[in-house]
Amino acid sequence: MNPFEFHNPTKLIFGKGQLDTLKTEVPKYGNNVLLVYGGGSIKRSGLYDNVISLLKEIGSEITELSGVEPNPRLTTVHKGVDLCRENNIDLILAVGGGSVIDCAKAIAVGAKYDGDMWDFVERKAAPKDALPLGTVLTIAATGSEMNGGSVITNEQTQEKMGWGSPHAYPVFSILDPVNTFTLPKDQTVYGMVDMMSHVLEHYFHTETNTPVQDGFCETILRTVIETAPRLLGDLENYEDRSTIMYCGTMALNGMLNMGYAGDWATHNIEHAVSAVYDIPHGGGLAILFPNWMKYNLHTNPERFKQLAVNVFHIDPAGKSAEQVGEEGIQALRDFWSSIGAPSRLADYDIDDSQIDVMAEKTVRFGPFGKFRTLHKEDVVEIYKLSL
Ligand code: NZQ
Ligand code: ZN
Repeated sequence: MNPFEFHNPTKLIFGKGQLDTLKTEVPKYGNNVLLVYGGGSIKRSGLYDNVISLLKEIGSEITELSGVEPNPRLTTVHKGVDLCRENNIDLILAVGGGSVIDCAKAIAVGAKYDGDMWDFVERKAAPKDALPLGTVLTIAATGSEMNGGSVITNEQTQEKMGWGSPHAYPVFSILDPVNTFTLPKDQTVYGMVDMMSHVLEHYFHTETNTPVQDGFCETILRTVIETAPRLLGDLENYEDRSTIMYCGTMALNGMLNMGYAGDWATHNIEHAVSAVYDIPHGGGLAILFPNWMKYNLHTNPERFKQLAVNVFHIDPAGKSAEQVGEEGIQALRDFWSSIGAPSRLADYDIDDSQIDVMAEKTVRFGPFGKFRTLHKEDVVEIYKLSL
C-alpha cells in the first residue's frame, strides 16, 4: 500500500424524501441559482416541478440551462459560463445524471477562469477556484455526484476527455433512489456496467497488500451482480434502486482506491469511441472491458484468478491461473449479456474504418494504463477484438 491522503468534501444526502434538504442547503451559498438539467426527463418525471417549488419557497432567483446532452458538449459549457456571469450566479444546481453533473462542474470552474475552460481538459492550466455546485442525482452510474472528475466532449475536434480538480467536487449531493424509478431499462443497465467498470479499473493495479480494498471491490461487484436481475424485473423497487445507487457512488468516490492507483486504460479507450460515435459510455465499456481483460490476462494471471474465484465463484481446482482467469472473463461477459448490454462494436454499427483515428486519440497524452502500459498498437488490437 502506498502513502495517501484522503479528503472528500461532498456532503452526501441519501434516501427517500431528501429533496427537501434543498431548503437548508441552497441558502448557505446564496440566492442566485443556475439550474442545469438535461433533455427533459426531469420534466416528465415531475422532479423539475418539485425542485422549482422548493427553490421558490426559499426565494431563490432561478436561471435555467436545459438541454445538456448525454456526452456533454463544450458549447453547452460555454453557454452555462455566460449565464453565470450575466446573472451573478452564487450556486449551480445540477439535476440529472453524470452528463448534467459533469457539464455543471465544467461551468463551475469555467465561471471563475478568464480563459476557455477547455484549457483545463488539455492540461494547459489547472482550476484555482470554482462556483459551488450542488447536485440532485437521477441515474446511478458515474459517481460524478461525489468526485472531482468530469468528462467533456469538444464536438468540433471530436475529442472526449476527462479532467478533474479538487475544486470540482459538489458541495452537496442529494440521492433519492425514487428519482431513479423512471430510468428505463437500457440506461439502468449502462449505469450498472459503468459502476462495475469503475470497480474493475481500480481492481487491476500493481500494488501488493490491499486486502481490505480488494474485499470492498469484490463486495460491490457481487452486490451489483446479485441485485441487477431483480431490479430489471421491477424498476421501481426502492430497496434495489437504493443498493445500486449506493454502489455507483461508492465505486468512484475515492473510498475503494486508497493506497493505490487503478489501471483506467479501458475508460480512455471507451472515451475515444464515444467521441467519434456518440454512443452511451456504459454500452461502450460493456463491449471493451472483457477484451481489455483478455488482452492483458497474461500480465498477472493471479489477479484475474482472484476476481474469477471471489466474484464469479469459479472453481479453481486443477486449473491454471490463466484458465480460471479466462473463465472469469467469460462469466463477466455472460453476465453483462444476460442483462442486455451490448458485446460487440457492431451492435452500434461500428466497423473498423475509424480504428486508427480512435486509437490515435487514446495516446494523446502518451502511453497509458497503470496495470499494463498500452501503446497505440495495443489499442488497435483491443478495438479489433471488439468488432
Ligand atoms: O437528458 P435527460 O432527458 O435527463 O435524459 C437522460 C439521458 O438521456 C436519461 N436519464 C437520466 N436520469 C433519468 C433519465 N431518464 C429517465 N429517468 C431518469 N431518472 O439518461 C440518459 C443518460 O444520462 P447521462 O447523464 O448521460 O448518463 P450517465 O450518468 O451515465 O453519464 C454519462 C456521462 O458521464 C461520463 C461519461 O463519459 C458520459 O459522458 N462519465 C463521468 C465520470 C465522472 N464524472 O466521474 C466517470 C465516468 O466513467 C464517465 O466517463
Ligand atoms: Zn465510467
